[in-house]
Amino acid sequence: MIREMLVSDIDEVMEIEEVSFSDAWNYDHFVYEILFNPYASIWVLENEESEIVGFADLWIMFERAEIANIAIRKDQQGRGLGYKLMQHIEKLAIEAHCETIALEVRVSNKSAISLYKKCGFEIINTKKNYYYWKGVSEDGHFMMKGI
Ligand SMILES: CC(C)(COP(=O)(O)OP(=O)(O)OC[C@H]1O[C@@H](n2cnc3c(N)ncnc32)[C@H](O)[C@@H]1OP(=O)(O)O)[C@@H](O)C(=O)NCCC(=O)NCCS
Repeated sequence: MIREMLVSDIDEVMEIEEVSFSDAWNYDHFVYEILFNPYASIWVLENEESEIVGFADLWIMFERAEIANIAIRKDQQGRGLGYKLMQHIEKLAIEAHCETIALEVRVSNKSAISLYKKCGFEIINTKKNYYYWKGVSEDGHFMMKGI
């Protein structure tokens, strides 16, 4: 089941976030996205045991939508769940009458790039040193899809 994320979900979501990203969002960042960011629409995917196995944060900014975050729990990856969440947030963007949906992704993140390509996204350009964390930088692809 996919449902809107609540503040009470943050601890469980943080467990996925922290193993997924070196520059993981902290607790307060999720609070901001859930309660205060007027553009954010943030969702969790639950399994049959009501455990959170993934989440996605979509920013809907008038005619543009942007995927700010998406991750699937490590032990649940490769089962089509990321694709399912992507379909869900794309539907939201369409319903909000957005014209494009976009995202940035590390050039080394082959599984995510492959997921986005499967969903119809194209690499528009590559931003030099877009990611910078603790002295390590990496280029980021800007990917977009017309909807
Ligand atoms: C990227 C991520 C969300 C994909 O979720 P997932 O549930 O594992 O993906 P799915 O099982 O739905 O796979 C859908 C498609 O993604 C691609 N994909 C997923 N895992 C892959 C892998 N290990 N290698 C190559 N392609 C992969 C494939 O194109 C796949 O389609 P296919 O099964 O027809 O080949 C997941 O790997 C993840 O959470 N990664 C860590 C967080 C992250 O990097 N988020 C993106 C930040 S930009």
